[in-house]
Amino acid sequence: MFYNILKTLLSVTFLFVLSLQSSQAQTQLIYPEIEEKVDSLLKIMTLEEKVGQLNLHTGTWDITGPKPEGNAAERYKLLSNGGVGAMLNVVGAEATLNAQQIAVENSRLGIPLMFGYDVIHGYKTIFPVPIAEVASWDLKAAETSARIAAIEAAAAGVNWTFAPMIDVSRDARWGRIVESGSEDPFLISEMTRARVAGFQTEDLSANNTIAATAKHFAAYGFAEAGRDYNTIDVSKNTLHNMILPPFKAATDAGAATVMSAFNDIWGIPATAHDYLQNDILKNEWGFNGFIVTDWGTIRQLVPHGYSPNLRTGSKDAIIAGTDMDMESEGFQRHLADLVNNGEVDIEIVNNAVRRILRVKYLLGLFEDPYRYSDAEREENTLYTDEHRAAARDVARKSMVLMENRTNLLPLSKEVNSIAVIGTLADDKDSPIGTWRAQGEANSAVSLLEGIQNAVSKETEVHYAEGYTLAEGRKNFVSELNFPEDDGSGIEEAVEIAGNADIVIMALGEEGFQSGEGRSQVDISLKGRQLELFKKVMEVNPNVVVVLMNGRPIAEPELYENAPSLLEAWHLGSEAGNAIADVLFGDYNPSGKLPVSVPRHVGQVPIYYNHKNTGRPVPQQGDAGTVFWSHYTDESNDPQYPFGYGLSYTSFEYSDLRLSKPSMAMEEEITVSVNVTNTGERAGEEVVQFYIRDHFASTVRPVKELKGFRKISLDPGEKKSVSFTVNSNTLGFFGADEIFKAEAGIFSLMIGGNSTDLLSTEFELTE
Ligand code: NOJ
Repeated sequence: MFYNILKTLLSVTFLFVLSLQSSQAQTQLIYPEIEEKVDSLLKIMTLEEKVGQLNLHTGTWDITGPKPEGNAAERYKLLSNGGVGAMLNVVGAEATLNAQQIAVENSRLGIPLMFGYDVIHGYKTIFPVPIAEVASWDLKAAETSARIAAIEAAAAGVNWTFAPMIDVSRDARWGRIVESGSEDPFLISEMTRARVAGFQTEDLSANNTIAATAKHFAAYGFAEAGRDYNTIDVSKNTLHNMILPPFKAATDAGAATVMSAFNDIWGIPATAHDYLQNDILKNEWGFNGFIVTDWGTIRQLVPHGYSPNLRTGSKDAIIAGTDMDMESEGFQRHLADLVNNGEVDIEIVNNAVRRILRVKYLLGLFEDPYRYSDAEREENTLYTDEHRAAARDVARKSMVLMENRTNLLPLSKEVNSIAVIGTLADDKDSPIGTWRAQGEANSAVSLLEGIQNAVSKETEVHYAEGYTLAEGRKNFVSELNFPEDDGSGIEEAVEIAGNADIVIMALGEEGFQSGEGRSQVDISLKGRQLELFKKVMEVNPNVVVVLMNGRPIAEPELYENAPSLLEAWHLGSEAGNAIADVLFGDYNPSGKLPVSVPRHVGQVPIYYNHKNTGRPVPQQGDAGTVFWSHYTDESNDPQYPFGYGLSYTSFEYSDLRLSKPSMAMEEEITVSVNVTNTGERAGEEVVQFYIRDHFASTVRPVKELKGFRKISLDPGEKKSVSFTVNSNTLGFFGADEIFKAEAGIFSLMIGGNSTDLLSTEFELTE
């Protein structure tokens, strides 16, 4: 009822189009018309109503963190008195409509709710897990998957996704490496821009766009020893040069919200980190959206040993720039009192409310709070053929061909017999992966089905399980356990392998083996998978291994002996069809690794953009000694380097050239290379551009990705590819703590992965 009064009060006109162009940074979230409305609304809000806007509650018991106190019914009551600003895990047109009606029609001011959800790689139509999508190095693909996720989620009432997750990580033990997918800040930044554009487009007020969340701010991907939620300890230099750039990219692209991290950094939990939230994000970068905590992180300030109780924690969090409290009930219980007691300045609260209302206006919620909850649209929009076709296309692009030693691939569809081996091959659930939103259990096209769909009628396809995998896969509830495999599946698998022309063997990880709370000390294949592989190889050398996993797997014997090996990750709804597209040559693989694959877990953290150290290789006279940076029982090198990936054709790089041999600070230089398809098939190649700054005020990495292009070439075709270099390309956060380039000698390198590169040098002058 009061909604109408409010509407009149705030004026119903909403005639301008909101534009969130990435080039115009965060000033784009500011529109005078909206600011006026926000201010008018703020003026008539009571303190309790203001505090209400700062609370984010889970609406069902579909929890994605430790269980909240209280009961759901009581929490719904809060909606009626304006006590909740947003809800999470309430999905579906009907449920969101109900909750929205309670908030809008019963509360005094009728301020609409936002509905947040972890729409990470699709809503109902599931796309490849992020590590896979990043492996496509295909920005259009990333934008498409985010766009479709937004279209589906928005039709089901969700107007806010907790994505993209953009935590740089160098540690395959950390289960959440599946979510950000890379050790490289440049690659993640590019993907971030594409995903934010996909979720929000240039018009956040459209009814099929949703607000994005850049998370987790900051350094969550550096959890010590790869153990989730662990403390982190990184230097300011690493923070600024490696961890923050994707967040800057996200806010520049107009991401409406940022989520703080669970961890402490320099002893201060991220939720109470004034430097990170106020100084960097809000002041230096001019971020005008709002900061939401992660689940329960205000409450967790107590066990962190930072705030002695929830009341103080709430004060610490809001003063340090936190705007919205997810599931701690800290603001709800204590903030009004803190303000009344003069411990928190009302202006701090006003500021937080202003940011949240701003985003609600941007979403068009005041114009029509029910615009996202349309049952008919939901019915017609989810899981359409068109969306599944897009998921298949992105999945094809996300695979990385790691080995094709005997040119076994691509396979003929007319082959007489194929033995398909491995529990994962017949698994319709694992490809849906972690964070599956409304993706249905067991709904993916399995590898076995994909193969059966692809081959000729005459081809015999035999299947054997071969091994058992983890059980207890229930999302977020049960512990994963890795049962003893008694090896009873091996015999049958070996038998069918011995009688087949080709063996396709699926190995890897179960769908929930990576993800939140899923860290491991051992990142090799679990159970008896390797033993099975070796036994099958004894009876048939024509083995194609299809790896399905969410983290890099360290298994040298497999990589060094598999005749063909395709890294397929967890590819989503259309996994099996997409893998078959690659195995049978309907698509020429083009993915490149977004992470270094270790040989051994003991090498972790392992990353290509490391520093050189003072003892990088044995110096003259040192040969044969141990006095250099290395292991005595393993190589320093990864199994596969960052950026690596093969194709069914081959590419040759030549004629690396510069537009001039040196440049001054304010100038630009162009570096170009020729790339030729020297094989027999058309194919796509990711041309990668790296730099090295040889001497600087703080030592710089041996290589840093600064550009890439995915190009397609017909057999024999040659293309010239160019990258522009300016002081922004060469800049970094140095000893003076200012982002800028420093004069000196740089190497510029271009190639098809981070190891095989053509290199040239040039000088940057003052
Ligand atoms: C905890 C996770 O860390 C975060 O990424 C997620 O968005 C929230 N739970 C909400 O589910």
